[in-house]
Amino acid sequence: MNDVSRSFRGNSNAARDIAHHLHPYTNFKKHEATGPLTIVRGRGIYVMDDDGKEYIEGMAGLWSAALGFSNERLATVAYEQMKQLPFYHAFNQRSHEPAINLAEKLKSMAPVEMSKVFFANSGSEANDTVVKMVWYMNNALGRPKKKKIVSRIKGYHGITVAAGSLTGLPNNHRSFDLPIAGIVHTGCPHYYRFGVAGESEEQFATRCAEELEALIVKEGGADQVAAMICEPVMGAGGVIVPPKGYYEKIQAVCKKYDMLFVADEVICGFGRTGNVWGCQTMNIKPDILTCAKALSASFLPISAVMINDKVYQALMMESDKIGTWGHGFTYSGHPVAAAVALEAQKIYDEIDLFGHAKRMTPVFHKHIQSFADHPLIGEAMSVGMVGALEIVADKKTKAAFDLATVGAGNRVSNHAQALGLFVRNMGDRVAVCPPLIINEAELADLFGRLRQSLDAALADLTSEGHFKG
Ligand SMILES: Cc1ncc(COP(=O)(O)O)c(C=O)c1O
Repeated sequence: MNDVSRSFRGNSNAARDIAHHLHPYTNFKKHEATGPLTIVRGRGIYVMDDDGKEYIEGMAGLWSAALGFSNERLATVAYEQMKQLPFYHAFNQRSHEPAINLAEKLKSMAPVEMSKVFFANSGSEANDTVVKMVWYMNNALGRPKKKKIVSRIKGYHGITVAAGSLTGLPNNHRSFDLPIAGIVHTGCPHYYRFGVAGESEEQFATRCAEELEALIVKEGGADQVAAMICEPVMGAGGVIVPPKGYYEKIQAVCKKYDMLFVADEVICGFGRTGNVWGCQTMNIKPDILTCAKALSASFLPISAVMINDKVYQALMMESDKIGTWGHGFTYSGHPVAAAVALEAQKIYDEIDLFGHAKRMTPVFHKHIQSFADHPLIGEAMSVGMVGALEIVADKKTKAAFDLATVGAGNRVSNHAQALGLFVRNMGDRVAVCPPLIINEAELADLFGRLRQSLDAALADLTSEGHFKG
């Protein structure tokens, strides 16, 4: 709902953007007609557009800016590191202190004992690296057929060829010829949507585990299936918190078939779910853990893959046999990004950010739950400082509005934007995932604006005859 009247005349940001800039995740035709919303600066939990309008960034950008949008210390550390060593790489046994320090720090924070940390630049690259590690490892162990990886429908793991294949969302596969062979998807553990009549949450979790096992058997069992990857709490699939007992059950299945368990902590990591790691909140014991986003508070691009000793020993053997681990990015562990990430972690410790997030969790939960009896809301769910509201046409039957013709979730996001709040709708699930520094008064402001947005959408849907009440 960008204001077309801002016009794309002359040398405006909008005109130049339309002329030159190809955006991620964008309908290009729509973009040509309505143009961008150009953000020019940030302050705490707020960002400001080029018309001077301020917004509460209720999504921390892309689930990531844990410290919000201004921080002097991180800026200073980047500047100092650029002066001392602006770039160096880690290929062929070279190293530098920022990467060493960050690897050591991450290992000390890990939810289980880890052996080594590999750096990349994005969540997608980290997850692509995992796929290659799993393949490489099984070649090292003389199990060349054990290569398949299980992911989940609605899981999000990025968009590069392997990570995009792990992702279980249609828009990341359609017209891209994905997924690649050897990546298979099991069901989404969303009880509200996929639990059947009369089924308890526990029975649903058991059914998910049984379906996983049936898929593994169909795909060749322990001989062919190598790993499973999960976000502890699904983010881009709609903020889906699996029912109690789910992870215990599916981890037992993976163990039975001698599979590695990979936790994608790209959103959940660093305090989002009320603990440092989503693995701790959901009782997951991963062999491999990927993280990004809040690793550097999103001030610079950096991601990490932590591996346990079992994985490391296999990689070590194979790299010695071949002569190298032929994988790495020019910017793996980039010194400026690593220095900023390390400083972000120091700040998190000093201000007790994870403790703050834990203390804000009941406040956040109460706000989310206050929408449960709104006429449009079918499910109100949160864990830690991430939550979602699912809009439905009928609360009793859980019937959804038609996405293409009604676009209820879009309407809420658009009203919110007009009211100075960014939230994100994934279809008709509206997510909230603010910077972790947010305080009680700011939370009240955020959710007040969200309520106004929902009420405005309700008024539209009622007056247009889509919502019958
Ligand atoms: C859980 C998860 N994994 C991986 C990714 C991909 O990260 P990136 O966009 O940095 O490639 C994302 C991005 O949102 C994510 O949410």
